[in-house]
Amino acid sequence: MDFKYTEEQQMVRETIREFALAELAPGVAERDEKEIYPTKAMKKLGELGFMGVTLPEELGGAGLDMISYCIAVEELARVDASTAIIISVTNSLAVYPIELFSNDNQKERFLRPLGEGKMLGAFALTEPEAGSDAGGMKTTAVKDGDDYILNGAKAFITSGINCDIVLVFVVTDKEKGMKGTSAIIVEKGTPGFEAGKRENKMGIRGSDTAPISFEDCRVPAANMLGAEGMGFKIAMTALNSGRIGVASQALGIAQASLDESVKYSKERVQFSRPIAKFQAIQFKIAKMATEIEAARMLLYSAAARKDRHENYIKEAAMAKLFCSEVAVRSALEAVQIHGGYGYIKEYPVERFMRDSKITTIYEGTNEIMNIVIADQVIGR
Ligand code: CAA
Repeated sequence: MDFKYTEEQQMVRETIREFALAELAPGVAERDEKEIYPTKAMKKLGELGFMGVTLPEELGGAGLDMISYCIAVEELARVDASTAIIISVTNSLAVYPIELFSNDNQKERFLRPLGEGKMLGAFALTEPEAGSDAGGMKTTAVKDGDDYILNGAKAFITSGINCDIVLVFVVTDKEKGMKGTSAIIVEKGTPGFEAGKRENKMGIRGSDTAPISFEDCRVPAANMLGAEGMGFKIAMTALNSGRIGVASQALGIAQASLDESVKYSKERVQFSRPIAKFQAIQFKIAKMATEIEAARMLLYSAAARKDRHENYIKEAAMAKLFCSEVAVRSALEAVQIHGGYGYIKEYPVERFMRDSKITTIYEGTNEIMNIVIADQVIGR
């Protein structure tokens, strides 16, 4: 693939890079240490249009293409992977499925404010006993007049505490298996909807991850996205796009690991010369740079297919699989290159190592990515 950025894509990179360095870099270590949510930065990102990157302008978004979206998430993650995942989840897992499956009323009530950055979206599929086996969900929604009554518990919800709306996947007809699942939008503050205690995580500690629960939670039937029975299809459609977002986040962490490794190896002197002069270090850096470039091209091929409205299920899964593995390998090598300094919090690479790991787990573990890829390559 012969790839060249458009002027617009280059401008997106410059804008978001500048933003990340000015607004996210100061305090990133403290937010990680103390689990502080990036409230001020999120507000500004919303004003800049980064909560609805690919949403058309007439619906309240920035109307950019998918590669611009990848660039934006990558540049955020290069500085702060926590902010990057908050942006990725609201764009890919809330705005995108709502854009695709909503009616006009839902577009005005939810999509426009999400795209304009006035609302933050979350996505609640996972349950304590239904992770990779998403179809095994148990949360129910029972029709009662003009409402549905929700009961059940969801786990590991990104922005579970700070979100304004959450797209919840529920069982509406347990006889029909996955075809008996539905997606419904629940607003924060709805009686019976509660977020639990924030999880104390290994990485991405600036973003909040929490369990949420529904106890006789009455939600207007007008909030159902698509029709009853479309839940699993909506979830998978959102996750295909989400996997591009997570791949972009992983790429940002990998790039940051490379940047820090190059900088440190030029400064650090051992045996009377910068360690960058040693082939042992040069080979590590060459491998990281090569893998990162390959990861970026794989990611852009998935993004470009999505922009062209082609099937991108396989490419998104490949991008998520490969970019996340490259992120983990690059972050580990960055720590190794930094030696003892890589193991302490004075340098950011130990945070990259902790942040990178989750990219191989969420939005479908890499084991699930292999299943998705094999299904697409071999057929069922
Ligand atoms: N895109 C579109 N359709 C898909 C799909 C995909 N990626 N994967 C499966 N499907 C479709 C299948 O084609 C099938 O459709 P038909 O019934 O029409 O044939 C249907 O979904 C059921 O598929 P399977 O028979 O393969 O179902 P399964 O139960 O054996 O496996 C799975 C499905 C792929 C493993 C799925 O459960 C899955 O993706 N699991 C991972 C869940 C996941 O990614 N969770 C992430 C949580 S969200 C999160 O992490 C967000 C965050 O906060 C950061």
